[in-house]
Parts: sequence; C-alpha cells; structure tokens
Amino acid sequence: MERPFPTVAVVGLGTMGAGVAVAVARSGRRVIGVEAGPTQAVRALARIEASTARAVARERLTAEERTALLALIEVGDDLAAAAQADLVIEEVPEDLELKRGLFAELDRICPPETVLATGTTALSVTRIAAATARPERVLGVHFFNPVHSMKLVEVVRTVLTSPQAAEQVAELARDLGKEPVAAGDRAGFIANGLLFAYLNQAAAMFESRYATREDIDAAMRLGCGLPMGPLALLDLIGVDTARTVLEAMYEQSKDRLHAPAPILGQLVAAGLLGRKSGRGFYAYEAPGSSTPVAEEAAAAEARPVGREVRSVGVCGSGTMATGIVEVLAKAGLPVLLAARSPEKAERAKDRLAKSLERSVAKGRLTEQARDAALALVAPTGDYRDLADVDLVVEAVAEDLAVKRELFTALDGIVKPGAVLATTTSSLPVISCATATSRPQDVVGMHFFNPAPAMKLVEVVSTVLTAEDVTATVLELCAKVRKHPVECGDRAGFIVNALLFPYLNDAVRMLEEHYATVDDIDTAMKLGCGYPMGPFELLDVVGLDVSLTIEKVLHQEFREPGLAAAPLLEHLVAAGCLGRKTGRGFRDHARR
Ligand SMILES: NC(=O)c1ccc[n+]([C@@H]2O[C@H](COP(=O)([O-])OP(=O)(O)OC[C@H]3O[C@@H](n4cnc5c(N)ncnc54)[C@H](O)[C@@H]3O)[C@@H](O)[C@H]2O)c1
Repeated sequence: MERPFPTVAVVGLGTMGAGVAVAVARSGRRVIGVEAGPTQAVRALARIEASTARAVARERLTAEERTALLALIEVGDDLAAAAQADLVIEEVPEDLELKRGLFAELDRICPPETVLATGTTALSVTRIAAATARPERVLGVHFFNPVHSMKLVEVVRTVLTSPQAAEQVAELARDLGKEPVAAGDRAGFIANGLLFAYLNQAAAMFESRYATREDIDAAMRLGCGLPMGPLALLDLIGVDTARTVLEAMYEQSKDRLHAPAPILGQLVAAGLLGRKSGRGFYAYEAPGSSTPVAEEAAAAEARPVGREVRSVGVCGSGTMATGIVEVLAKAGLPVLLAARSPEKAERAKDRLAKSLERSVAKGRLTEQARDAALALVAPTGDYRDLADVDLVVEAVAEDLAVKRELFTALDGIVKPGAVLATTTSSLPVISCATATSRPQDVVGMHFFNPAPAMKLVEVVSTVLTAEDVTATVLELCAKVRKHPVECGDRAGFIVNALLFPYLNDAVRMLEEHYATVDDIDTAMKLGCGYPMGPFELLDVVGLDVSLTIEKVLHQEFREPGLAAAPLLEHLVAAGCLGRKTGRGFRDHARR
C-alpha cells in the first residue's frame, strides 16, 4: 500500500495532541498543528520542543532527528490550515459539543476526501461523525498516554466508516511503530471498556471496607502481575475522568457494574481527584506528586500478637501442597508433608526435591540451602503424625465435602491451640471452620500458583476467626517472605473477585463480535501493561476452573453482570479447556 496521509493536521496540542504530533513527524510526515488561540499555540510549540529535548536527553532521539522532526511541525491557531492535510486528528478536550462543532467546521474547510479522526476516549464517534456530511470518512483513533511509549492504537469504526479509511489509519499507526487494533463505537472501546469496569469494582470493594486500599492494590499487583494496583491507577487517571468514562459506559450498557461506585462521586465532589489534586484514594506529598504519604491511623492500629509457630504440617500432595511445603522449608520451618498414603507423600517430596534442584541449576539456591530445606521435610501417610504441629495448612482437592471431612479429622488429631488454615480459592472458609469444634482457630491462607514464586497470600478471616489466629498467619507470611493481604470470607476474596469478572467481560466482548481474541489480548497488554491478555490467561488457568469461579461469584453476589458468558460454558461443554487440552480460546495444538 502507498504510504498513507503524507500531511496530517493535529487539532488540540495538549497532553495527547502534542504526543501525536511528534509521533507523526517522526515518521517523516508534515504536521499542521492547530491550537485554540495564539497564546495556546506558543505554549503548545514550547511543549513539543521541551518533550523532544527530553527525548534527546534520554537518548530516545538524536539531536539531528529532533531538528528534522521539529522542521516538519508547524503550529498555528487557524483551523483553515487543516485544509492542506490528508488526515485530521482531533485531540481537543473531552466535550461532545466542542468536538461536534469542530467536526462540522472541519467538514466545511477540508476537501471531501480528507479523513477526519477523533481522539475521544468515551464519547460516541458516531455522534461526532453525524456532525459532518462525510461520516464514511470519520473514525476514532485512540492513542494511549504517553504517546511516545504506548504502542497501542485503537482504530474505531462506526457503522458508517468505510473499511478503506479504517485500514489506511491502521496502516499509518503501523508506520508510527504502533500496533493498531480494530474496535467498534462503544464507550471505552476495548482496553478502557475492560479496564474501567474492573477499576469500578475495586473502588466499590474499597468502599464496602472489604479490604484496605493498600491490600487491594498489593493483591492485584502481586496476584496478577499488574503494573499498578487499581486504586493507585484511579488516582493516576483522575477520579473525575474515570467517573466520566464509567458514566458513558453505563449510559450505553445499563450494566450496574458500570454505574460509577458512589465513592467516585464523593471524591469528585470533594475535589479529591487523585494525584493531580494531591489526594484521591491516597494522599500525596503535593498536587502532581506520585509519592503517597502513609496515613498514621492504619499503621498505629494495635494488633494482638500471634501464636508461636515452630513446626508446620501441610495436608495434600498436589501442586499447591508441594509448593507451600517448599516455601515453608526454605524459610527454615520443619514441615510434615501429610498425604493420604506414604507413597503419595514420598512422591510429593520427590517433586519438591526436583523443584529445589531446578532452583539450584538456575543459580537461585545454593546446594547447602537445598539440602537444609529437604532435611526439614518429613513425608507421612498418616494424619495422626500432625498431633504436635503448631499450624496446619490444608491444600487438598477443591471439594467442600473432602475439605470438611479433613477438618473434622484434624480437629480430633491436632493439639488444642494450633492454627488450622485452608488454601481454598473458592469455597467458604467458614464451612471448613464449622466442621471442627474450634472454628476460632480456622483461617484462610490463599496462596497463588506457583507458590514458591508468587509473593501474595490472601489471609481470610471468617466471622469466627480469633484475632490472634489472623495475627499468627500474618506473622508466618512475613517469616516465609510472602506479602499477606487481609480480607473477609466471601467468594473470590480480593484477586479472583476482581479478576474473573474482567475475564468474563472479555469473553462477552468476543461473543458479541465486538473485537477479536488477538485484538483484545493486544489491547490489554499494550494499552494497560498487563503481562498477559485475558484469553491467554483463561487458556492458562483453564476454562473449567474459570467457569467454576465465575459461577461461585455469581452465586454469591447475584449480580446479573457476573453471570458466566455463554461462550465460556459452550467451550467447557465442548471439552476446550485451554492449554491443558490443547484448545481453548486458541488452538495450542497447531502452534
Ligand atoms: N490524557 C489521556 O490520558 C488521554 C488518553 C487517550 C485519549 N485521550 C483523549 O484525547 C483527547 C485530548 O485529551 P488531552 O488529555 O490531550 O487534553 P488536554 O486538555 O491536555 O489538551 C487539549 C488541547 O486542546 C486545545 N483546544 C481546546 N479547544 C480547541 C479548539 N477549538 N481548537 C484547537 N485546540 C483546542 C487546548 O488548548 C489543549 O491544548 C480527549 O478527547 C481525551 O479524552 C486522553
């Protein structure tokens, strides 16, 4: 294809427009920048000069490249100059009437073949296009901030946009070194559509005091590998902006999960907009600062001292049990590895030895440390050997009947005062607790897979858990170098309750043919910095496991938006369970 759009006009050279102008000029194209008035034009040019100077200082650009690039950019305040452009990209503030007025004017000024693109985040591209007499040449081009480093560009087609116009804009994006994905005209498009629903749930979770802001943020960073926690991200985006995007999403979807959490409105009304105003979910050192200040109240809160833990028992012989034994033994704790038979326990210990061996081979563990850890692990096929341990971690099959039976057995065996912890990820901890005569000693300790690598542990207290039992587990986490977060005993705890509705939304987006598997995965990785796209993650976790968790969440909260997407049910029914069966959302066998 011929190089599209040799001359590009950028209208509005603020945060986004200035970045877009530089990116376009870097590709060797002429850029006509238009600002609202002469003062704004001077400021905009200064901004572009400063940002490119910074790029030179950081060696992202050579001085020669900068000179060449600046020579291609002209900035003025006369919209008529846009008539010389092949493509106009609008990046003025997010205001429908402002944008519609601008497009009507551009439509009058520009030759009929000029393509007009809006940079809107959450306004209707269709309504902006309707202000012109050329809706087939109007589309959305959604860059991400900061433009120089974010690779994603969503190319948004309305029902009237011509495929050629969209393909040419996608080609331009590729030419700028970006990765374009195709999206339809829906508030939030792909990346923000999935992101903001999740941010909203995190805000609601905080608002209901289910967990602290620090714990919600740490849980999503450490449990899912996200670059930032959701509340810190809301502060960065701006609570007001987030609320506006959610309002637009709710307006279209009427999904209660998109209705902005009341706390967002309260923060906006109080002027607590996030980093830019120095306070939002967190308080910052100053407006614009990224350094939060610790609040004293939480730190000073008195907590009882935990019970002493000198030895630990782990029940189970699967992936989680073996991983947890490794974590405990590496931290110097004697561990009884208790399985249903001596053979199973021995085999689990062999797997542990292999795992430690791999760590030695990778240089992460010394041979002495490996030998010391192995020496601390005693396999047994008899739960009665757990009589004298101070704490038991149960990691057997995710089946309530099986777990309850085990807890009843442990109740009859383990000494009084010992802590009994379950690693369940989707069953109520209280149901394990009530299978014993000492529910105050039972607590949830939700490790993540692979346990030796994942830093997070969700510490789940039921309404009956004694405070010193929770304290014991928090102290144990610190000792074994895990990061504990505290939460109550409800479905999904923190991580799964925020993660799985997002994954389900992605499946729904696919089901509605809004975007493709690849485009949705790309959008989340490049637009939000997620380590994996939702479909990659679903295929790794397993579609059956995901469906079970989604059903548990829906059953708990009865929120219509949480009902598992039919497509997920169909794939599970068809035996497409993800990587483990060779096929899920993608065909892995053929790769
Ligand atoms: N900031 C982000 O993170 C981000 C990310 C993606 C998309 N967007 C979208 O990009 C668009 C621009 O947002 P921004 O953050 O760059 O805003 P901004 O406030 O930083 O910049 C807007 C610029 O437009 C100028 N302007 C206002 N009226 C004008 C007019 N009539 N003609 C020419 N220029 C005019 C202003 O002087 C200002 O320089 C919005 O639609 C926004 O939703 C923003």
